[in-house]
Amino acid sequence: LNGKVMVTGGAGYIGSHAVLALLDAGYEVVVVDNLVTGFDWAVDPRATLEVADVADGRVRDVIRDHSVRAIMHFAGSVVVPESVSDPLKYYRNNTAASRALIESAVVTGVPHFIFSSTAATYGTPERVPIKESDPQRPINPYGMSKLMTEHMLRDVAFAHPMNYCALRYFNVAGADPEGRSGQSTQGATHLIKIAAEAATGKRAHVAVFGTDFPTRDGTGVRDYIHVSDLAAAHVAALALLVERPAESHTLNCGYGRGFSVLEVLDAVDRVTNMKIQRKLEGRRAGDPAELVADNGAILSTISWRPERDDLDTIVQDALAWERRLAEMGP
Ligand code: UFG
Repeated sequence: LNGKVMVTGGAGYIGSHAVLALLDAGYEVVVVDNLVTGFDWAVDPRATLEVADVADGRVRDVIRDHSVRAIMHFAGSVVVPESVSDPLKYYRNNTAASRALIESAVVTGVPHFIFSSTAATYGTPERVPIKESDPQRPINPYGMSKLMTEHMLRDVAFAHPMNYCALRYFNVAGADPEGRSGQSTQGATHLIKIAAEAATGKRAHVAVFGTDFPTRDGTGVRDYIHVSDLAAAHVAALALLVERPAESHTLNCGYGRGFSVLEVLDAVDRVTNMKIQRKLEGRRAGDPAELVADNGAILSTISWRPERDDLDTIVQDALAWERRLAEMGP
């Protein structure tokens, strides 16, 4: 690459796993993170940590000082219900901050950009599995804030010498199989994280939001992808951007199969040999019945093969990290 990879949000959940994957692949990494939701201890010591906001002009100095040749942009806000109650936070931290960061990249001549997008840009899909070319009609400000950034990247890549890859994540879960990182966020809202907390005694039960969806058992179906496979996809996407500077891509990141809420909880029971308390509740606002990726495009575009496409493995790794967090204390 002839320079470093700058990882924004590298102290956060997915970003810290991307840092590990990049370092393990031999890249040099500088992390930019404001540590609002991330943790400095989550950044592997082989990387340099610069505590700064991605919208800050100081990012340009970081890019120059570290000869940054590629940016992986994970930093942002990610809680869907919060985006509904505080939309401007999402248009600031996701859309406006991304605009400033992309401008810093253009001004300093960074040639490659990888962006954390989301399946939330599809809203309620007309069909599953979802293809990249399917309509994007976000049903919450989170999805819209990410979709707007996709549009900025498309226009910027047309106007300036930069190519990009936008990766639309489905449901990311699990933790580094070697136990080096995991999901450490306080006040989790994600199903597998919550189930792991219940299995380690941090909560009494797991609420099941909705039992009357048109799915095989009435509960919501999602395409859960292991965070380490997702991190590997970023490294593979970077290789493609470097190899083919004239191309940009937007790709779904999922395994192409879904599990229901009850199937996820059954997996946790299986892995722990326990019985988690389920509390059947009404639907959560804005939850679609089923989100599953058509992953044909990513499989044929980048050299990436999932290695941990197994629900029990995802749950096992999430649990191992949850136990580690419990040992670390508050
Ligand atoms: N669920 C429960 N109980 C819980 C938490 C979740 O039943 O305590 C259910 C939800 O209703 C849904 C499923 O488990 O059916 C998954 O919910 P998550 O909150 O784990 O994830 P979401 O599917 O709502 O959203 C996640 C990310 C989004 C991303 C989306 C794309 O948070 O950023 O996946 O698929 F856009």
